Amino acid sequence: MCGTVPPLPIAILESRCGDRERFNNRERLNSSSALRFDDDASSLARGGGASSAWKKHKSCGTSSLLPMTPKKPPQWLQVVGHAGSFHVGDYGTLLKRFCEGEQQCYLRLMEDVLRPYVPAYHGVVQRDEQNYNIMDNLLTHFNRPAIMDCKMGSRTYLEGELLVARERPQPRKDMYDKMVAVDPEAPTMQERSQHAVLKTRYMQWRETLSSTTSLGFRIEGFRVDNLLPFPLQKSNEECHTNFKRTKSREQVIEALDNFVDSNTQIVWGYLRRLKQLRQVLEASDFFRTHEVVGSSLLFLHDWTGRTGVWMIDFGKTAVLPAHLTLNHRTPWEDGNREDGYLWGLDNLIDMLADMLPLT
Ligand SMILES: Nc1ncnc2c1ncn2[C@@H]1O[C@H](COP(=O)(O)OP(=O)(O)OP(=O)(O)O)[C@@H](O)[C@H]1O
Ligand SMILES: [Mg+2]
Repeated sequence: MCGTVPPLPIAILESRCGDRERFNNRERLNSSSALRFDDDASSLARGGGASSAWKKHKSCGTSSLLPMTPKKPPQWLQVVGHAGSFHVGDYGTLLKRFCEGEQQCYLRLMEDVLRPYVPAYHGVVQRDEQNYNIMDNLLTHFNRPAIMDCKMGSRTYLEGELLVARERPQPRKDMYDKMVAVDPEAPTMQERSQHAVLKTRYMQWRETLSSTTSLGFRIEGFRVDNLLPFPLQKSNEECHTNFKRTKSREQVIEALDNFVDSNTQIVWGYLRRLKQLRQVLEASDFFRTHEVVGSSLLFLHDWTGRTGVWMIDFGKTAVLPAHLTLNHRTPWEDGNREDGYLWGLDNLIDMLADMLPLT
């Protein structure tokens, strides 16, 4: 998550990225939602709405005929993360609650070789006195996609967070209770007698439960919509988020296989994209100079066979001091700032490759 920042004074406050012009033009175009509705309607009519029923469109005074289409899929679905942090924006954008650190990352990423692997960033907007970072909604080009969020790296707390927790070593009862709820055997004798654990201990213990420490990534959740292609259109949506204790390679492969519904074409698509991403990460100045913690890869595919993977969530990504760079594969030791991101990606790529039939 991100630290709190004071509210910013104007609607679109800052947008140093290359897409500024494009976004501003879009904003100017955005005079009414009727425009978008009509656009949709005409494209649907062109796209062979012959089988659709028709209804009267009354909102513009005179009645006109518009096709009645099957219920539109929602513009955005969230797999995990803080509820209430997002709004759907105009023209295929998504608004995420403002975080200055995340904004700085996106601004740098827009100038980096990683740019095609992150949602395009469009600046800041204010709504109801809350500021939001504006970015592309990655779902836009998919048709009822299956979505998976994989949190990358061998730890999900920053070294800085550990430091703060160490400076104020308060035994925490709430964390003890959470620990016991998951594993009654986990607390030490001393922790049991105090009915409390230190935050640092809790943070490090929590990571060992999932595949974060053993494989360098964990599945946070996925959503699939077992929709049959048009005209059957029957939706059967499922959301799976119970992976906190999915730890072994076999368990993770089973979950990945469920996500892709054993479809090897989809696995190939993901594998290709992840291998490209790995090459680009290895060449990226941004990546070399940042501790990338708590960031996810967002996987998307739909029944047309289209696949895509993007890096998201830079709320906890921290720029390194000038003298330091990371290779993201060296095991973490307190003080070296290594995050295990590429080690996790190597493992993820190996596991997806193992899901393909032997040739
Ligand atoms: N650009 C995007 N396009 C489409 N969906 C997105 C995008 N960004 C985020 N999401 C969706 O929102 C979810 C949460 O995103 P994100 O991790 O950025 O939020 P968060 O509140 O910081 O979460 P957390 O701190 O718990 O990791 C993702 O799993 C994904 O489903
Ligand atoms: Mg996240």
